[in-house]
Amino acid sequence: MTDRDAAAAGAMPQKTPMPWGLYVVGALGGLLFGFDTGVISGAGPIVQSDWGLDAAQLGFITASVLIGSMVGALSAGRLSDRFGRKKLFVVSAIVFIVGGIGLMFSQNFAAMSIFRIILGFAIGTTSTLTPTYLVELSDKGHRGSIASMFQLMITIGIEVAYFINLAFLHCNAAGLANWRWMFGSELLPAAILMIGSIVLPESPRWLVKEGRVEEAGSVLLGRLHRTADAAKAELADIQAVLAKDPGQGTFKEVFKTSGKAALVAILLMFFQQLVGINAIIYFTPKIFESSFHFDASNAIWISIGIGAVNVVSTIVATKLMDKFGRKSWLIFGSIVMCVAFAVIIVVDLVFGTSSIAAAVITMIFIAIFIIGFAVSWGPICWILISEIFPLKVRGVGTSIGSAANWIGDFLVSQFFTMILAACHNNIAVPFIIFFCFAFLSIFFVKFMVPETRGRSLEQIEEDAMGK
Ligand code: BGC
Repeated sequence: MTDRDAAAAGAMPQKTPMPWGLYVVGALGGLLFGFDTGVISGAGPIVQSDWGLDAAQLGFITASVLIGSMVGALSAGRLSDRFGRKKLFVVSAIVFIVGGIGLMFSQNFAAMSIFRIILGFAIGTTSTLTPTYLVELSDKGHRGSIASMFQLMITIGIEVAYFINLAFLHCNAAGLANWRWMFGSELLPAAILMIGSIVLPESPRWLVKEGRVEEAGSVLLGRLHRTADAAKAELADIQAVLAKDPGQGTFKEVFKTSGKAALVAILLMFFQQLVGINAIIYFTPKIFESSFHFDASNAIWISIGIGAVNVVSTIVATKLMDKFGRKSWLIFGSIVMCVAFAVIIVVDLVFGTSSIAAAVITMIFIAIFIIGFAVSWGPICWILISEIFPLKVRGVGTSIGSAANWIGDFLVSQFFTMILAACHNNIAVPFIIFFCFAFLSIFFVKFMVPETRGRSLEQIEEDAMGK
């Protein structure tokens, strides 16, 4: 960026980190989210046997984080509209560190549950903040790819945590048991997020809302794919949209002015969860152990394989995201997921779960399901919930979508194993339910979801207001 460019945009040049580095750091919130998802799958069962917890207590240690996440998600929108995206990142990282240290040194079930809720609060907050931040910091031509980095970080976090679980499985260093080190490892991504957040620029849209127009212009110029003209035009658009209606950013206002967007955000997130992604992510080892009689160590390697497919497919998604419309990707993903479920259901109903062939086919089609999810519903739901709300209520609107994600996750985590047990461990029955949601999602996308690819956030807002 030259000083002339900066002057053309009516702003002082601002030092920003390397543009790509900026988005990577901006997406780190996803790493916390994914990391904890992976860590609990390894640490939870060990804590259970060390402390002699029953199944309900183990369930609560897993699910308590979701309670904290729901609260965090719901408060993040108001707080980020009020104090800015950047400050809240720093606070979330600190809360995450407090939760992580607490978990590492917890002495009993009650303490662990409290620290899981605290940790969840930080995860819920960052899961609301990160996609909004990335979307607000991207230009319209690359927004899909850039915002997909949140999902990429989630999948990397899950996979890294699987390896950490393996690495610490037999580690009892410094008198601390293996699971304490697993939880302790969560401090690393949190510390990186905290340091990263200090150097991140504030969201330009939030700055304009606060009347800090010069700073906003400077941030717009510091982004990837910047040009002075584009930054200037974007700044003018943001100002024009806000001048029309600055709004207060309350929950009431979201439902009053953007009721349809709120409904779409909630349904998007419910569908994202009800197609059963976390039944696979959390319980793959359990599926292969109890349904196909694999031993535990082989089952862990299947998780690692599934995690790798998830990361690689998400990388492909970040490259291709802006080449086709969001709706096309979602419908494509739903069809792939339906086909994968259909094959698994037929195989398991016809051949049962005792043959090795059934296990192999199930494994392959679970991987195909993951590919379908990772290139579509995984990244796109998070992108869309940040794109479809007008700026004045974007923080709160995204909160609502994010909270719906945690509620859906809670329902699937809570009921999947119960349904599986009730059906004598034949996965066909829960998978029939997931198939139905994947099928219905096609119609939901076709008839209710707006297309946002290639439109600026201000154009999307104008479209919505026009309707
Ligand atoms: C979902 C998570 C899921 C992850 C898997 C995310 O988009 O919200 O619940 O664990 O994808 O990659």
